[in-house]
Amino acid sequence: MHMKIINLIVLFLFSIVGVNAEDGHQLWLRNKNALPVTVVCSKNSPTLSIAKQELQQGWQGKPGVSVVLTIKNDKAIKGDGFRFGPTGVTANTELGILYGVYEMLRRQQTGEAVKDEIVNPSYEIRVLNHWDNLNGSVERGYAGQSIFWRKDDPFVVTERDNTLWREYARANASIGINGAAINNVNASPMILSADYLNRVKAIAEVLRPYGVKTYLSVNFSSPKVIGGLPTSDPLDPAVAKWWKDKAKEIYALIPDFGGFLVKANSEGQPGPQDFGRTHADGANMLADALKPYGGIVMWRAFVYSPNDKDRAKQAFNEFVPFDGQFRDNVIIQLKNGPIDFQPREPFSPLFGAMKKTPVMAEFQITKEYLGHSIHLAYLSTMWEECLQSDTYQQGAGSTMARCTDGSVFQQRHTAIAGVANIGLDTNWCGHQFDQSNWYAFGRLAWNNKLKSGQIAEEWLKLTFYDAPSEKKGSENYSGKWKTDFLDPVKQMMLESREAAVNYMMPLGLHHLFSADEHYGPGPWWAPPRVRKDWTPPYYHQADTNGIGFDRTHKGSDAVSQYHEPLASQYNDPSTCPENLLLWFHHLPWNHKLKSGRTLWDEMCYHYDKGVQQVRAFQKTWDKAQPYVDKERFSEVQRKLRSQTTNALLWKDACLLYFQQFSRMPIPYDLERPVNNLDEMIANDMRRFR
Ligand code: GCU
Repeated sequence: MHMKIINLIVLFLFSIVGVNAEDGHQLWLRNKNALPVTVVCSKNSPTLSIAKQELQQGWQGKPGVSVVLTIKNDKAIKGDGFRFGPTGVTANTELGILYGVYEMLRRQQTGEAVKDEIVNPSYEIRVLNHWDNLNGSVERGYAGQSIFWRKDDPFVVTERDNTLWREYARANASIGINGAAINNVNASPMILSADYLNRVKAIAEVLRPYGVKTYLSVNFSSPKVIGGLPTSDPLDPAVAKWWKDKAKEIYALIPDFGGFLVKANSEGQPGPQDFGRTHADGANMLADALKPYGGIVMWRAFVYSPNDKDRAKQAFNEFVPFDGQFRDNVIIQLKNGPIDFQPREPFSPLFGAMKKTPVMAEFQITKEYLGHSIHLAYLSTMWEECLQSDTYQQGAGSTMARCTDGSVFQQRHTAIAGVANIGLDTNWCGHQFDQSNWYAFGRLAWNNKLKSGQIAEEWLKLTFYDAPSEKKGSENYSGKWKTDFLDPVKQMMLESREAAVNYMMPLGLHHLFSADEHYGPGPWWAPPRVRKDWTPPYYHQADTNGIGFDRTHKGSDAVSQYHEPLASQYNDPSTCPENLLLWFHHLPWNHKLKSGRTLWDEMCYHYDKGVQQVRAFQKTWDKAQPYVDKERFSEVQRKLRSQTTNALLWKDACLLYFQQFSRMPIPYDLERPVNNLDEMIANDMRRFR
């Protein structure tokens, strides 16, 4: 028979028998054909039962062996860390046992060695922030409605709720996430009413055995709005008492309640400054209310007002003067960059600058600024870049990771947060590959030194490998599955965030989005009544002289918020990293870059490269078809098509718009635009009229 026909038949057989139908709901915890194992554990508890059950349902190691789970004090083990080997897990806590079991199973499944090792978490608190509103909508959520709240029958807890919450908690526990703030930071005061607190109790009960503590976002005006007090002034004793009583009420319902997350005096939310008080006054008052129960306050530093000339500087200016004035159960929660989850930002200069106050990072798992759940963008590389950024605050090597995990500064608590991308969609995250971002956040929160390549590889094996259990193990990840699926798809993931930077806003450009939806391009977008600092021209500052935000000593001087040698490096265009150039500098269009190209040409090449990268992703994925079930394959294929269309729109929109100022040609070896600027602008503005 002709080779081609044989190949086609093999491909066909593979597609019907080799790859089972899947919808992604199982995440990285797909059903496994377990091999027999005996689990020995002298203690019993809901958490330990889960650990035993997971072993029995997922064992892929040597068949018939005994696995011993032991809780005992071991000084080398920190927090919920564990010691483990091929036949046992030892930990100080039950949760440590559970984490050890998940680690063991993951290693078996991904073909990594299970050898004697101690594994400790980088952070004590590893928490998801759900921006879920009480009416069931999710702010910046692209995966359906909330899994916690709904508009109709809001206080009925159904079997479906319980199942979903259990699956959610299990997924979190399997990657080490141990907390969830379950309502939006733009918090409704109603969350603290009796009805809602009862629902929180029901949620907390399902999450508890998996070690996921419940936290709530609170509205600073709650004492006035739902407590009937005349004020919410933090220094008013009646207000402080209201919060103390509220904490007591919460802990009576939820004894292991984690604490409060607070967005105050930010984007119109109420806060202590409304009463002439400070962030420290507000945070400390709440911290005092939670202290008797061991609760913490995660106080966000996402603050900016339209009055300042440079939004990027404000959090630093507002918070650094209060360093050392916060209670020891307050943690300041900072977005990774100084503006707002842009595809690329430098790290926030507050990391490492607050030396006497614990600071935690807030990463955004939901892709508000990276193509929602339409684009494929693996964010681990972005977070790794941030975690490994050297702040120099205590000499070289004071990475952002080390400044937050207690290695550089003494910290009573250490924490890290990720804004969740989870909703009621069957696959939880909207895009199958967005599951990898949830996964990666958990893995990096557990171990902030992990490499994105390793995380991607684990996730791909767990999520897509489909061999019968007797064929699992390291040797089976070689061969065609590796060369034709694992390697190229992993490469695609690792490149994907940089591709988004290229086709959206390369070379340090930022916030070029149209309107508030933060999806498509809108470098022109500046309606008269919209705050200037919410419009792209504020950020790109393009004119016939050049482009970029001058944050040098001669400009807004944001560079000075960074520790030397960074301040000088960033200040000088010849030493500023090119991928941050226009973040810190306003430069002429013909400014020469390291490549020898002008700034304008370099921009054109970056935009074009981004589009080419996404086209290459389409090829990679199409080639991966034999290795992926039909449903997940076509879903991703469809989304990649939309991504390419959108990437092209980004390229054309930005290049044609900026060309009005540069007045230079798009290099002739690049593909020509296929969209017209005036039409793109008209379409865009029409949507928001
Ligand atoms: C961004 C986002 C808002 C969100 C805010 C925050 O500005 O667009 O939806 O509320 O961040 O982090 O508080």
